Amino acid sequence: MGKKVFIASDHAGFSLKEVLVKHLQEKGHEVVDLGPEQAVSCDYPDSAFKVTDKVLAEEGSFGILICGTGIGMSMAANRVKGIRAALATCEFHARACREHNNANILCLGERVTGAGVAVNLADIFLETEFLAGRHLRRIELFNNK
Ligand code: RB5
Repeated sequence: MGKKVFIASDHAGFSLKEVLVKHLQEKGHEVVDLGPEQAVSCDYPDSAFKVTDKVLAEEGSFGILICGTGIGMSMAANRVKGIRAALATCEFHARACREHNNANILCLGERVTGAGVAVNLADIFLETEFLAGRHLRRIELFNNK
């Protein structure tokens, strides 16, 4: 089933954002591109908070954030209560962050992860369900911190 996906990058993640927007639209997801519109220098926390606001406002939606490494985006996004942002570089990360951590934002690094791998990681992230059970209890231990 198609998901609602809010996506944003900084200048260092712009090219990968363009690839992902096209791919996810073709897969039938409803993709909202929150910018930037060009690869102009910008600050990744600003992009991160555009996506965190939208994800929190729309239940069941997901976010994708891309910077050079994915690290800055994940640090910024995880400052926001209710956001569980996961930096993924491999299939195991992309699957486990959904199954175990109920991640609602996927972070990627364009300078780390090639476009072909990144597209696959986004697909896995959006297709994998949270397993709940004992994992829910663990998430609840930090959700309100
Ligand atoms: C930008 O040069 C770079 O610092 C940024 O995209 C990101 O990698 C930060 O974590």
